[in-house]
Amino acid sequence: MKAGLAVLASGRGSNLQAIIDAWEQGTLPVNMVGVLSNNPQAQALRRAQSHKIPTAVLRSKDYPDRRSYGQALVQQLQAWQADIVALAGFMLLLDPVVIKAFPHRILNIHPALLPSFKGLDAQKQALDYGVCVTGCTVHLVDQDMDTGPIVLQAAVSVKPDDTEDTLAARILKEEHRLYPEAIRLLATGRLKVCGRKVEILDEGGNYLD
Ligand code: GAR
Repeated sequence: MKAGLAVLASGRGSNLQAIIDAWEQGTLPVNMVGVLSNNPQAQALRRAQSHKIPTAVLRSKDYPDRRSYGQALVQQLQAWQADIVALAGFMLLLDPVVIKAFPHRILNIHPALLPSFKGLDAQKQALDYGVCVTGCTVHLVDQDMDTGPIVLQAAVSVKPDDTEDTLAARILKEEHRLYPEAIRLLATGRLKVCGRKVEILDEGGNYLD
């Protein structure tokens, strides 16, 4: 039985597209149960619709507080029978009620090597700081921003003439490779969480050497 995957996205949805592509190519063994956005204009919604994936919009301003927004989110995810939730450029902090409903089942992708450069404009933060190497991280979501246990990371060199756009584009290429891979590991039961550490098991459920 394949895991039900829901994706939450606020904007362009290029990571969503990479997930859809892997799913359609048969390399991501999940059921795509829905794509939800807080932004009715999100390109991510149009991408989902063009692949016949159910969509929903929940605008935070329609709810009195973060808790009730979180409850509505959980209701929709449960109605879709989601087992796993992937945040793909979803720009709202999830209420604990969502984290509790999907323990160790929510992934996020962030365009930096966490724990460096959390929050917004991670690529600009990396350039401003003057690092030589940055990258992207897929992590399990906990109750704070960009702090959960790390699943996979990919490094990207910073070039002397990089702008925010050129650096973001090279990181994005790695994001599109890394995110479907991390979702595949979670969906096939190959992640074992021990405190802050995530062990990756082989296909037989044993530790990798
Ligand atoms: C991606 O670069 C993702 O890592 C980032 O937003 C972008 C979404 O692009 N997420 C964050 O910064 C979360 N803190 P996309 O809509 O094309 O996938």
